[in-house]
Amino acid sequence: MVTLSPSLLAADFVNLRSQIDILKLNGIRSLHLDIMDGMYVPNISFGPPVIKSLRKYTDMFLDVHMMVEAPERYIDDMIYAGADSITLHIETCRHLDSALEKIRKSGKKTGVALNPATPVLLLDEILPFVDMVLVMSVNPGFGGQQFIEYTKRKIERLKAIKSDNALSYSIQVDGGVNKENIADIAEAGADNIVAGSAIFSGDISDNIRFLKGLLEE
Ligand code: DX5
Ligand code: ZN
Repeated sequence: MVTLSPSLLAADFVNLRSQIDILKLNGIRSLHLDIMDGMYVPNISFGPPVIKSLRKYTDMFLDVHMMVEAPERYIDDMIYAGADSITLHIETCRHLDSALEKIRKSGKKTGVALNPATPVLLLDEILPFVDMVLVMSVNPGFGGQQFIEYTKRKIERLKAIKSDNALSYSIQVDGGVNKENIADIAEAGADNIVAGSAIFSGDISDNIRFLKGLLEE
């Protein structure tokens, strides 16, 4: 079953509590948390204090997507704040293996993210050791951007590598997902789909029901 991960970047931060309640009532089990430092990406979002507050309030899986230069500097902070999984961009991390090992040793799930133009083959050696691969389907930094079509080939490639080698990572797709393209993205091989504006613009419950319906067809 393909699961949905709402990106809180598109939420109304004043009403976070009630919005999380609505997500939960609609069967959502995981929250995607976009950490942006204004350096690796132009935008600044939020950091460990917000994760800490979320952790106190909810038992949902907290999926932390680090869009930060040298993200290894913040792994301990994210774990301490309550992250369940930490995803690092391969483009930002000089010592990916040791950074992932640090996350794994703390008992948290590991993820590696690829920007649209970063080829899947860069992950050759690491694929057997990661829990999740995040395929960015927009250039990271902002919500509400348009899905980049060629990234679908990367999803298909990761799906094929997974089945050919009996690997177990899950494939997450992030950016520009909407009602028109979600079924194709799932068909290409996504296991988990992040959606920000498609969930938080308008009525959250209606949006989730609609998107889930498209995934079940
Ligand atoms: C982009 C972030 C995404 C973003 C998705 O840098 O990683 O998670 O919030 O937002 P939408 O679904 O609106 O493209
Ligand atoms: Zn993200």
